[in-house]
Amino acid sequence: MAKFMITGGKKLEGSVRVTGAKNSVLPILAAALLTTKEIVLKDCPDLADIEKVIGILRAVGSKVKREGSTLIVDPSTITTWVIPDKFVKEIRSSIIFLGAMIARLGKAKVTYPGGCEIGQRPINLHLEGLKKLGIEVNDSYGYIECYAPAPMGAEIHLDYPSVGATENIILAATAAHGYTIIRNAAKEPEIGDLQNFINAIGGKVCGAGTSTIIVEGKRPMRGATHTIIPDRIVAGTYLTAAAITGGEVLIENVILDHIYPVVAKLRESGAIIKSVGSAVLIKGRDRPLPIYHTTTLPYPGFPTDMQAPLMSLLSVSSGTSVMVETIFENRFKHVPELIRMGANIRIDGKTAVVQGVDSLRGTTVTSHDLRGGAALVLAGLRAEGQTIVENTYHIERGYECLECKLRSLGAEIEKI
Ligand code: UD1
Repeated sequence: MAKFMITGGKKLEGSVRVTGAKNSVLPILAAALLTTKEIVLKDCPDLADIEKVIGILRAVGSKVKREGSTLIVDPSTITTWVIPDKFVKEIRSSIIFLGAMIARLGKAKVTYPGGCEIGQRPINLHLEGLKKLGIEVNDSYGYIECYAPAPMGAEIHLDYPSVGATENIILAATAAHGYTIIRNAAKEPEIGDLQNFINAIGGKVCGAGTSTIIVEGKRPMRGATHTIIPDRIVAGTYLTAAAITGGEVLIENVILDHIYPVVAKLRESGAIIKSVGSAVLIKGRDRPLPIYHTTTLPYPGFPTDMQAPLMSLLSVSSGTSVMVETIFENRFKHVPELIRMGANIRIDGKTAVVQGVDSLRGTTVTSHDLRGGAALVLAGLRAEGQTIVENTYHIERGYECLECKLRSLGAEIEKI
């Protein structure tokens, strides 16, 4: 198992470019199945999660080729309506193929994705939404089988603005007769990217970024070239890396609006952040200030994916901060690891109280999930001495060569 070995204490300096958003690439690769014509996707990072989704496309009979950061998909052939179990177990966002396969074939079969490192992650909202479109959903022995002889547009109110459910319903609705209206839809920027992609191939979706999305179904689809939006969580992670080391870094390829909730919090911690065209310049304080209160919320609230990285920063701040995690029930697994490094954090249910300490000490810690793993790397950049972060594969799911990019900013980090 690979590990990161980090010698802390270096202030990060220089510039780094943010890659395309993993959470956009995943649903857009599924959406490629809505057409039979060639799709070219630009700025797709080389990540384990994306490779797994490419594996699904290949397993169902489509062709995918990578040329640098460009993916070329030939979705003209589909040979099965069953998404192989092994992929669903490896990457739970493969559930998004349900909507895409229903739209393309009128049927789909997938095993229940189940929970993961950060929580139970039910899919009731996905399935209830699909049923409203007239899709027959059968639950049989751990499998979900969907049949859609003639899906009909419908008005769907989501009890919670789930990102995945919104995406799945949009995908299935492209094949429904008439219009589908999704109310209380998720507003995350990745949904806007999915909308733009579907419209580029001939679909008609509007409203992404608001809580009401309208999809016109049954439109003829074509091929297209589409560039993926920058990854707001990767951008937020580099911003926090600069802030925790008191460094000065230019983060390139950023949409400021998308990362504003993170920028606002980092400014509260005393970092100076300026927008420079499509880049953001950050200068961190030697000792971050505490942040009185942060609550994770659906977009445009503070993202749950940035909770762990921000907690590393708070752990070396000059006072007490409170962090409330409202999205996922099991997303504090980095906390015991930060405590091993000398952090002073108490958890009570969904709330973490972080009493900033003067310094963290390097030790061996284990990454239990993607963003928690990134948080431990950030803590290692600040800590005295050497930190070893085990299980880098979690981190590699979402960050393209994190160690190379941090090294280019002056960090001492090796993968061993
Ligand atoms: C997506 C992101 C993930 C991010 C999350 C929240 C991808 C591939 N992943 O995950 O990185 O952390 O949004 O911003 O884009 N829920 C239900 N029933 C459902 C669906 C969801 O109760 O049918 C609950 C979940 O358990 C969770 C909350 O809704 O508590 C939010 O989940 P959701 O927005 O669906 O997240 P994902 O799409 O899985």
